[in-house]
Amino acid sequence: MSLEHVRVVAEKGPRSGFPVIVAVHSTALGQAIGGCRLSVYADWRDGLEDALRLSAAMTAKAALAGLPNGGGKTVVALPAGVVPDRRAVLHDVADVIESLGGDYATGPDVGTGPDDMVTIGERTPYVFCRGHDSSPGTAAGVLAALRAVVADRFGSHDLAGRSFAVLGVGRVGGHVLRLLAEAGARVVAADVDPSRRTVADSFGAAWTDPHGCLTAEVDVLVPAALGGVLTPETVPELRCAAVAGPANNQLDRPGTAALLHERGILWAPDVVVSAGGIIHAIATELHREAPDRVAARIGGIGDTLTRILDAARETSSTPAEAAARLAGWLVDYPAKIA
Ligand code: PHE
Repeated sequence: MSLEHVRVVAEKGPRSGFPVIVAVHSTALGQAIGGCRLSVYADWRDGLEDALRLSAAMTAKAALAGLPNGGGKTVVALPAGVVPDRRAVLHDVADVIESLGGDYATGPDVGTGPDDMVTIGERTPYVFCRGHDSSPGTAAGVLAALRAVVADRFGSHDLAGRSFAVLGVGRVGGHVLRLLAEAGARVVAADVDPSRRTVADSFGAAWTDPHGCLTAEVDVLVPAALGGVLTPETVPELRCAAVAGPANNQLDRPGTAALLHERGILWAPDVVVSAGGIIHAIATELHREAPDRVAARIGGIGDTLTRILDAARETSSTPAEAAARLAGWLVDYPAKIA
């Protein structure tokens, strides 16, 4: 058995007392990047498990996005029902990141936002999106992916008149919903937080409960909240032609991709669809690229996805397998592909 990750740090935060976990999966292509997640877990080991899986996905995400970066992730495992001292938690996180000497840089993720990155930035320079919101970039990438999916399924990139179910109307999901509405699509949405309905209302989207959204009869289901929504239990219930969204780790296990494939449902790998945030962060903050150049890079997500869907068809494999194969090549032989 071999350890796949470069380094995994788990420590009891000296200020907060909560488990802070940083998993650096790969630095083969460059500095590892990946968001900082603040979530409730029954046991800190569940948070560790999440960090291990999410950091590995970030390696594939960065490689497929054409970035000279590896993958990592931070997870702070919170017990249920506590309101943490945010500053203490974020300074604990910052000190662990600083101790890694630049091998890993963080960014916003589930449970954190640009303001939190400012707080982390008080103690380490290895943090993206200090005060900048990456979620519009992520959403723009999702739209590029949705155009590619719709073209693959229905023969045209046009989103007007197509139907979408957006599951999760948080920072990213809210932007996706707006962009879909602006493109003339029909949208139904849901969130575990019922107060998010106002977002759907303001863009003329229909509202339902999360299960109704998951099983809605639509062209494309767009998972835009937490992962693990695609399972052997939920896949038989789906009534969509395709699934494509920014939620990380949508499949509960790799084998679920085959279940979707057998049902004739196209699954666009989340590591491709969700890359707009990191592309935006790296291009603007590290390379200081102009907005139109950044937008073009994010638009490239659509071409990458098309390439993967074509490769899957040509090799009679699932898009998940085709994406994993391409990501593996990019990490192992970067020079040859470039
Ligand atoms: N949550 C982002 C992702 O999963 C993480 C991130 C955003 C990292 C921006 C760096 C910069 O892709």
